[in-house]
Amino acid sequence: MIEQKRHLVTEIPGPASRARLDRKKTFVADGVGTMLPVFVTEAGGGILRDVDGNSLIDLGSGIAVTTVGNSAPAVVCNVQRQVEAFTHTCFMITPYDGYVDVCEQLAELTPGDHAKKSALFNSGAEAVENAVKIARVATGRDAVAVFDHAYHGRTNLTMAMTAKNMPYKQGFGPFAGEVYRAPVSYPFRDGLTGEQAAARAIDHLDKQVGAGNLACLAIEPILGEGGFVVPAPGFLPALAEWCRAHGIVLVADEIQSGFCRTGDWFACDDEGVVPDLVTTAKGIAGGLPLAAVTGRAELMDSVHTGGLGGTYGGNPVACAAALGAIEEMRTHDLAARARGIGATMRSRLAALAQDHPVIADIRGRGAMMAIELCTPGPDGPEPDAARAAAVNAACHRNGVVTLTCGTWGNVFRFLPPLSIPDDLLQEAFDVVAEAFATTA
Ligand SMILES: Cc1ncc(COP(=O)(O)O)c(C=O)c1O
Repeated sequence: MIEQKRHLVTEIPGPASRARLDRKKTFVADGVGTMLPVFVTEAGGGILRDVDGNSLIDLGSGIAVTTVGNSAPAVVCNVQRQVEAFTHTCFMITPYDGYVDVCEQLAELTPGDHAKKSALFNSGAEAVENAVKIARVATGRDAVAVFDHAYHGRTNLTMAMTAKNMPYKQGFGPFAGEVYRAPVSYPFRDGLTGEQAAARAIDHLDKQVGAGNLACLAIEPILGEGGFVVPAPGFLPALAEWCRAHGIVLVADEIQSGFCRTGDWFACDDEGVVPDLVTTAKGIAGGLPLAAVTGRAELMDSVHTGGLGGTYGGNPVACAAALGAIEEMRTHDLAARARGIGATMRSRLAALAQDHPVIADIRGRGAMMAIELCTPGPDGPEPDAARAAAVNAACHRNGVVTLTCGTWGNVFRFLPPLSIPDDLLQEAFDVVAEAFATTA
């Protein structure tokens, strides 16, 4: 395992990374942005090492992917074994055990004890698209309900489902039709109870779409890119009840919040919400590309044979990685570890907020924690994206990989790998504190 120590030998990014960035500019499309251009050579535990020999603390997990850590032992072992055996057959042509094993694990781990089946894909957006396909076939309806601040991906249908224009949608239309957006529960900004916020969303959808026209309602149980907004208690259960009453398929997009990130296997577990379909990706496979739709067996089976699939979906190497990642989560009780990391982060952020009133809200669950930066304004809190950018840059300069998010770009999100040692986590928050103290 790479040494678990922050150590900077050059400025960030260093000369070797800067030279590579010039090459990137020549050969990689400008549309593919890079937040922190240090070129990585090695990673594990809570450390990323770059080509200049700098060791940075990772508070992002490659956007909630390396939940079990980079190159986690069971992932490496399974992948190596699988690569030597075979790399691809296409499950739709000649099947293999790994795919079925992953689907069996998903049936066991996702919320609810009903009969479940899964289909595997490559990316989160692909999983969301397929959840909509399944819901449409199962219900014979077209309309899709999504929420303010939602993020579901960058393909055509998922761009329509995603709320934020820049950078995800600008210039890429026309978008898919029959997608309707409702107000979400955002306790910091709306001050509503979960029940009140659900009544508002239901009224909006009833009036503007009609419950009987909705194939599905897709929701992130904790919003991801939209700002780590945790809906007020009661919001999700009330929506689930309404969906049940009107035959609307409830799709929980757990792509960012799933697989131990929030201190449970899935964020829906917190309130005992049982979705009809769950989409997963990111943390499922320790860094290899894998995604899934898991749901009620009768819903999943409503699609004709050949209607779901894709050349690489459920690739054997990615499945082997997922089985390794799940083994790591079970063996090390990573849900409990996420709760411990969450408690540490929350107490560090609460102390920081005492000194920096710009930290207007602290929210999240487990190892999915965020702060929203605002200044007081005449009509309520004014997003302070400039301060978020300044603090983010200061963290990067000092060797901590932090991420921002949120509709206004003013939310700092913390998503450390669950393999990060305690002392490294504390040190990372010392750096965050210093970044707040040295920026204005
Ligand atoms: C909640 C959610 N859904 C869908 C996606 C899209 O996943 P992918 O980037 O793998 O297509 C993301 C990615 O950030 C996400 O956070």
